[in-house]
Amino acid sequence: MAYEMIEVRVEAEKVGIITLNRPKALNALNDQLMNELGEALKAFDADKNIGCMIITGSEKAFAAGADIGAMAKYSFADAYGGDYITRNWEAIRSIRKPVIAAVSGYALGGGCELAMMCDFIIAADNARFGQPEIKLGVIPGAGGTQRLPRAVGKAKAMDLALTGRMMNADEAERASLVSRVVPVDKLMEEALGAAIIISGFSQLAVMAAKESVNRAFEGSLNDGVMFERRLFHALFATNDQKEGMDAFVNKRQAQFSNS
Ligand code: CAA
Repeated sequence: MAYEMIEVRVEAEKVGIITLNRPKALNALNDQLMNELGEALKAFDADKNIGCMIITGSEKAFAAGADIGAMAKYSFADAYGGDYITRNWEAIRSIRKPVIAAVSGYALGGGCELAMMCDFIIAADNARFGQPEIKLGVIPGAGGTQRLPRAVGKAKAMDLALTGRMMNADEAERASLVSRVVPVDKLMEEALGAAIIISGFSQLAVMAAKESVNRAFEGSLNDGVMFERRLFHALFATNDQKEGMDAFVNKRQAQFSNS
């Protein structure tokens, strides 16, 4: 598929990189961009050679939110009945391989929500996160009021959602929204390094780890621990478990076959 609003490339033969590319609108997320992003993620997810994906933007903006121009005149019937604003945002939730958000510049509104839908966020030191929808007379509409408190706790989530202020990369790291902060010129190197490490492991174990960590956000601790245990036990049916443990015992490098 030919893309117009994203750029797609493969690095190190196993990492799929998607760059949001609507520079004039600071990567504002419209229907077409989100459709293309969903298609690209699904294609990488289905590609056996790809072990991890990275979503990134430009140095100035990861994404400045949903496209305000496109939705400014929507009625309730358009927004609810047609679900035109976020109808194609769910594709990313069906992706089973890990997706890293490499964020520099603005990650606001839907941009912050998109970053939070990824499995973890690596931020450049110029990153700015926020949910400024309140300033537009609305609230976050792509999971911000749910994922932000789970990531940073109620106090900071309320602060951001109610005041619309931005948080810089240091504050985002202290609040556990991001896993690492690096100088802006090292962002892709850092994200790619993490993605290459992940891609070197058994895809089966990696998908199980992702699925199990995500379970921590739904249901009880008891259910989550049981879910994790079942997946842990199931991995003993894989060749990669035999290979990984045999390699450790025999002091050699494991060669995973994703089987
Ligand atoms: N939608 C559409 N266009 C946007 C946009 C958005 N979310 N954000 C920026 N742009 C456009 C601007 O309109 C401008 O276009 P023109 O050059 O044609 O005028 C261009 O991008 C550059 O933007 P600015 O001139 O404003 O750049 P700046 O450096 O002065 O400010 C900014 C940067 C602080 C990010 C500012 O652009 C801004 O506040 N953007 C809006 C952020 C926002 O409110 N996001 C939430 C959107 S609602 C949402 O996301 C709902 C949801 O939960 C799903």
